[in-house]
Amino acid sequence: MALANELSAILSTVFVKGYEMAHLEHDPTLEPDGLTLADLAHVAPLGARVNAAGHMEVAGVDLVDLATAQGTALYVMDEAHIRAQLNAYQAALAECWPESAVAYAGKAFTCKAICRLLTEEGGWLDASSGGELAIALAAGFAAEQVIFHGNNKTEQELIEAIEAGIGRIVLDCFEEIERVQRLAADRGVVQKVLLRIKPGVVADTHSHIITGAEDSKFGFGISDGWAERATEQVLEAANLELMGLHCHIGSQIFAIDVYQQAVGALFRLLGQLKQRFDYLPRELNLGGGVGSAYRVEHNPPSISDFVKTLTDAVKIHCEQLGLAPSELKLIVEPGRSIVANAGITLYTVGAIKQLEGIRTFVAVDGGMTDNIRTALYDARYECVIANRVGEPRDAIVTVAGKHCESGDVVMIDASIQTPQVGDTLVIMTTGAYNQSMSSNYNKQPRPAVVWLADGVAREVVRRETYADLLATDVG
Ligand code: LLP
Repeated sequence: MALANELSAILSTVFVKGYEMAHLEHDPTLEPDGLTLADLAHVAPLGARVNAAGHMEVAGVDLVDLATAQGTALYVMDEAHIRAQLNAYQAALAECWPESAVAYAGKAFTCKAICRLLTEEGGWLDASSGGELAIALAAGFAAEQVIFHGNNKTEQELIEAIEAGIGRIVLDCFEEIERVQRLAADRGVVQKVLLRIKPGVVADTHSHIITGAEDSKFGFGISDGWAERATEQVLEAANLELMGLHCHIGSQIFAIDVYQQAVGALFRLLGQLKQRFDYLPRELNLGGGVGSAYRVEHNPPSISDFVKTLTDAVKIHCEQLGLAPSELKLIVEPGRSIVANAGITLYTVGAIKQLEGIRTFVAVDGGMTDNIRTALYDARYECVIANRVGEPRDAIVTVAGKHCESGDVVMIDASIQTPQVGDTLVIMTTGAYNQSMSSNYNKQPRPAVVWLADGVAREVVRRETYADLLATDVG
């Protein structure tokens, strides 16, 4: 058996036209894990349970009925879960720091409904494009509570932001300092800004989503003197008001002690800025939130531990700098941890191919267009069959999408209740960076997004139609 496995591993790497083509990984020795929904509670939405029919329900809504009513593929989110996560950050910060704001990172998932939810809960918004800002404004979100990000915001985006009265622009490069100063001066306004700093730390996460290292396209470095030069330039700009510093070191981080290093680096810089320019910040924005559990074995730090790690580090350095905590507003920008576990994706199983001695492919009515994270980051999820969710997971399958390439897989070697054609298949933890990174590849219309609360399903983003695809096709 061991020899056969070794052989199959060797055979799964072939050379074609000089390129090394790795087949989809597969471990033939894996056994189904026998878990039921109850065992997956920490990756599922808070309102998930097995109902009397033996179906999975969320917030009192039967997911099999929902799939029938709304069609699949379908993004589904537990609204109470989103509120609970946001409130957890707000409560933890309120306990540890005199003045703070939680700015939800809209890049994880944006729509008008979530902007209204933020307004109701007193949240701020981190917007990373003119499009995200436009959606927030359309939802009536207060522009002064929006923080605008990006390493190359266009002149048009900056104009839209300044004219809307945006709360903060996070300046990312020297060109942008000059641009925002000019655009603000032209309009006779003073724009509040933060400077994006690269603290030069390397977080333990996927290389695509590390952002705080020296070799990053984002922000100003410290060791090369750029951060100091940028500060000088902003302090001299009559139409810019420097509120403080921003840093974001990466996403999906479990080993949060790296934040202590990042805060240390920021405060070493602040020491230099105090000495050289007599400058003290009024705000410090420490970027995204804690990582999320996607897999049974994932055990990320709690939101309160994450916030305590940050605030403890800032507190120590504030004292050394001679800055009272009451003089410094702390901002965090969690995205993933607010929405990831609140969201799931429903698919219908359409075809099953049991390849003897190789693997079983279970094809669903979506794939890399609604979930690119498997192909892009080797992301791993948990999945169940909604109509048999109380039963143990007794099969290992590869969940394939319906799109025209072999890399179109959602789950490789997944434990799941033995699927049958017509079953409703649920992928967990898809609330963050799934819908927001979706595409129309193969001219696939995007799924709807449905929010569930108190037994009621509310469509917040409708399913795209062929007419939507044709609307931009004006040739
Ligand atoms: N603030 C800034 C400036 C950011 O760049 C990000 C994420 C966040 C906040 C939110 O970080 P979070 O709390 O979500 O970790 N598409 C990738 C994630 C990219 C994250 C980019 N920046 C994924 O699917 O894993």
